[in-house]
Amino acid sequence: MIPLAACLFDLDGVIVDTAKYHFIAWRQIAKELGFDFTERDNERLKGVSRTRSLEILLEVGGLALDTAAKVRLAEQKNALYLSHVMKMTPVEILPGAEAFLTACRQAGYKTALATASRNAAVIMELLKIAPLFDAVVDGNKVTHTKPDPEVFLNCAVALELPPQTCAVFEDAEAGIAAAHAAGMLAIGIGDAGILGNADLVVPGLKDLSLVQLRGAWDKKNNGTVAKP
Ligand code: G6P
Ligand code: MG
Repeated sequence: MIPLAACLFDLDGVIVDTAKYHFIAWRQIAKELGFDFTERDNERLKGVSRTRSLEILLEVGGLALDTAAKVRLAEQKNALYLSHVMKMTPVEILPGAEAFLTACRQAGYKTALATASRNAAVIMELLKIAPLFDAVVDGNKVTHTKPDPEVFLNCAVALELPPQTCAVFEDAEAGIAAAHAAGMLAIGIGDAGILGNADLVVPGLKDLSLVQLRGAWDKKNNGTVAKP
């Protein structure tokens, strides 16, 4: 059986609670444009780039804007988002995230951060989480947004491992699809009703053990559940 060798983590909504700040900022933009933007609408924005997020937002509002207006709105959204992010401290690392990453590393698995965000460096600096990762692939290093598998495949390259030896941890529907497109195990972090395509869904990393991870791995790779 193919061994599990690496764990690839999305950032927003998996390691840190920034998903709520993305939502607050986009909802504010929608409000200024004169339409309502719900939490359900917001699910479509998770995991996708800033530019693509704006396109989806405008689609929800039924608006068509020229390129200059879109650039302005994307900048405005990022400024709003950063006004929240810059106040963050390590307290906002999601429960269990640090402990789970540490357990993965102690078990010998490589770890990588795999995110569409172009703000990943500043967030890692504020939260002091850089030492938890062997590799980082962020929105500045990819051209295709999730559900394209590029970000995860680039992580595998950076770690010098075959994609089939990697497991992905994701809170976005687009991220689960991207993980599967990369041929990787997909662990959903969040609501099972939304992340139903994942191989396993848990509410947060605090609810996941390495035994469960290995069980999901074995089930995907040889159809049997590992002995605890
Ligand atoms: C993550 C989030 C998305 C966000 C994207 C870009 O994938 O889940 O909601 O749009 O990053 O983030 P950025 O920080 O570059 O605007
Ligand atoms: Mg996310």
